[in-house]
Amino acid sequence: MISDAIETTQCQRKDPVDLFHSGHFVKICAPMVRYSKLAFRTLVRKYNCDLCYTPMIIAADFVRSVKARDSEFTTSKGDRPLIVQFAANEAQVLSDAARIVCPFADGIDLNCGCPQRIHDDLKRTVDLCRKAEATGVSWITVHGRNVEERHQPVHYDAIKIIKQNMSIPIVANGDVKTLKDAENIHHMTGTDGVMVARGLLANPAMFAGYEETPLKCIQDWVDIALEHGTPFTCFHHHLMYMMERITSKQEKRVFNVLSSTSAVLDYLNDHYGV
Ligand SMILES: Cc1cc2nc3c(=O)[nH]c(=O)nc-3n(C[C@H](O)[C@H](O)[C@H](O)COP(=O)(O)O)c2cc1C
Repeated sequence: MISDAIETTQCQRKDPVDLFHSGHFVKICAPMVRYSKLAFRTLVRKYNCDLCYTPMIIAADFVRSVKARDSEFTTSKGDRPLIVQFAANEAQVLSDAARIVCPFADGIDLNCGCPQRIHDDLKRTVDLCRKAEATGVSWITVHGRNVEERHQPVHYDAIKIIKQNMSIPIVANGDVKTLKDAENIHHMTGTDGVMVARGLLANPAMFAGYEETPLKCIQDWVDIALEHGTPFTCFHHHLMYMMERITSKQEKRVFNVLSSTSAVLDYLNDHYGV
């Protein structure tokens, strides 16, 4: 809750732009509605994630309602650097929301990606990015698909061209599943950072070089989630994602229908000694 966060986080501001000048590509946890919340951010930070985004927050609700604010945004002392993502279609509302949250965050992101991402005519995308750059944005993240594309390969070549035409840092997003993928995409596109969503859900330790979720990471999630009082559905869904690649179909049939924290804890203890 913002009210709880005031004393612990207000003075911890870091400039996330510095990360882009560190000489390494920046490893970023993407905004994910329902998922990139405080507990999950705490977990991925343990495994070499440099920068985290909150889930998308509707700016108008955030400004209007204290209740919406407290349920949509929680943070803690170690939850930095942090970017808060808003959806807004009025500049004043975005500005008001940014002003409220700024003591607890290191940056504000405006979600422009659902559903327009790159345009078929790449010149139009480059023009849009240039306009954003001229307004003073610090960096831009590009998901390399157009509005019709869902499962087609990501156009890393398009991301590379955007990068070549911009002065501010550019972050590549799309289909990164391992640290090796991230490194390859960084080399292929020349971008300054890589943002990952589903790859981190499946393996929150991927930025630390693990090919699949290590048991230690599952144990860490259990500890962190319980400590944060994570609601059962969220606790369980994250485990389903994390264990997707390491459990058989038969195990999933049992695990995925468990309906209480104690049942999940018993299962993990019996099967994995976690
Ligand atoms: C569960 C889930 C929730 C998402 N929520 C958001 C969001 O709140 N804001 C946003 O800009 N993108 C959101 N996205 C899109 C991701 O940030 C990302 O752009 C997309 O999944 C492609 O990256 P990936 O291939 O690494 O998954 C979401 C994606 C997933 C899977």
